Amino acid sequence: MIKVKNLSVSFEEKEVLHNINLELPEGESTVIVGKSGCGKTVLIKSILGLIPFEKGEIEVEGMTHSVTNSANLNLIRKKISMVFQNSALFDSMNVYQNVAFPLVEHTKLSFKEISRIVKEKLKMVGLHDIEDVMPSELSGGMKKRVGLARAIVLEPDYVFYDEPTTGLDPVTADEIITLISKLSQTNRWASVIITHDKKLMKAFPNNIIMLNEGKTLFHGDLDQFNSSDDGIVKSFSYSY
Ligand SMILES: Nc1ncnc2c1ncn2[C@@H]1O[C@H](COP(=O)(O)OP(=O)(O)OP(=O)(O)O)[C@@H](O)[C@H]1O
Ligand SMILES: [Mg+2]
Repeated sequence: MIKVKNLSVSFEEKEVLHNINLELPEGESTVIVGKSGCGKTVLIKSILGLIPFEKGEIEVEGMTHSVTNSANLNLIRKKISMVFQNSALFDSMNVYQNVAFPLVEHTKLSFKEISRIVKEKLKMVGLHDIEDVMPSELSGGMKKRVGLARAIVLEPDYVFYDEPTTGLDPVTADEIITLISKLSQTNRWASVIITHDKKLMKAFPNNIIMLNEGKTLFHGDLDQFNSSDDGIVKSFSYSY
């Protein structure tokens, strides 16, 4: 379980998140939606301790971090992987080196064992025989798959996806949604997906959170979301 408690984040004078409280259950998927600029990326970066926040506490599997307590951050980061919107692959490394990177950095596994895991994870995301290819030669969809393979090599408890379908053509976007669904069903990790894409909400309908003006405006399932009386939820729901 990830618990976000009384989280407030400001940049200079501007408060982006105001006293956010929410829980991301273990082994279950959550979709986080909201207008551009409402603080979705700031929220997940705060959970990972990538952004300093002035107030509140984050708890991940019983370990906490806050402005005055960063002792657990390395352990917390091992439990959560992030798939960035632009995939954030290392341009100078080939696919194998990109996917192997967390294993080389954080484990003492042998070359042979690392090679086995890299192949296994690439297969899980539907890629074969591309270990030697450089990121510049990959399509957008393939980059996403490699970024996803890299995110799961350390067997995380949570995988955070920041806008996994943005910038992809509709066919490739559907393929990525199918892949994320399949992996979520067949593995124990919890997927936490930030998106504007209604199709992702449909693929993960059980646990939807909407942020608005720095606060949690909605938390429920897709049926409740679609039948909400709130004007802002309605305008989001009908805008697709
Ligand atoms: N490092 C930073 N310095 C200053 N302001 C920032 C920083 N990061 C984010 N912000 C501001 O915080 C607000 C929320 O940004 P955030 O990136 O979380 O939005 P978002 O909901 O992810 O939007 P989008 O859907 O467009 O990705 C924005 O107004 C942004 O300008
Ligand atoms: Mg964002």
